[in-house]
Amino acid sequence: MEIQIIPCLQDNYSYLIIDKTKNIACVIDPSEAKPIIKYLEDKNIHLKYILNTHHHYDHVGGNIELKEKYGASIIGYKGDKDRIPEIDILVSDQDIWHEENFQAKIFHIPGHTLGHICFYFYNEESVFTGDTLFSLGCGKIFEGTYSQMYNSLMKIKALPEKTRSIVDMNILNKTLNFVLLMTKTMKA
Ligand SMILES: [Fe+2]
Repeated sequence: MEIQIIPCLQDNYSYLIIDKTKNIACVIDPSEAKPIIKYLEDKNIHLKYILNTHHHYDHVGGNIELKEKYGASIIGYKGDKDRIPEIDILVSDQDIWHEENFQAKIFHIPGHTLGHICFYFYNEESVFTGDTLFSLGCGKIFEGTYSQMYNSLMKIKALPEKTRSIVDMNILNKTLNFVLLMTKTMKA
């Protein structure tokens, strides 16, 4: 399987997981449809599944257009069935989602939102953490509690050490500046 990064909106990333043996793909958190369609058309790949980590617009913005164009099925957390546009397949904590050659274990990781999940593609040793984990930081706690977010981060930390954590936003500069500021403050 090939994992392809698709920059979307201003600072979001969506990801395509591509099965080159069948020329099919699933997309994680399509912020918008246009750049994803462009990539798929350039490479002549058919989109079969849309996987959403949570309901925020910059993660589901491309759902409807992509579903209409490709007839793709949308997978998301059962508790967010009324918030994820056009959802088809409801998943729960600890489920294994398996279609075609795509396989992922679902972990419910509330904190950023109450219905946030991550997709652990164990064969690819990769976990898609949405807005829960970022480089040098974590997502804003909009709906959950700090304790929920901590427990969710510990679930991600408990995955095998070689697992790649694949995040949905490019905010490294912001988190790095925060870390440097805190380090300075603590030294003073
Ligand atoms: Fe979000």
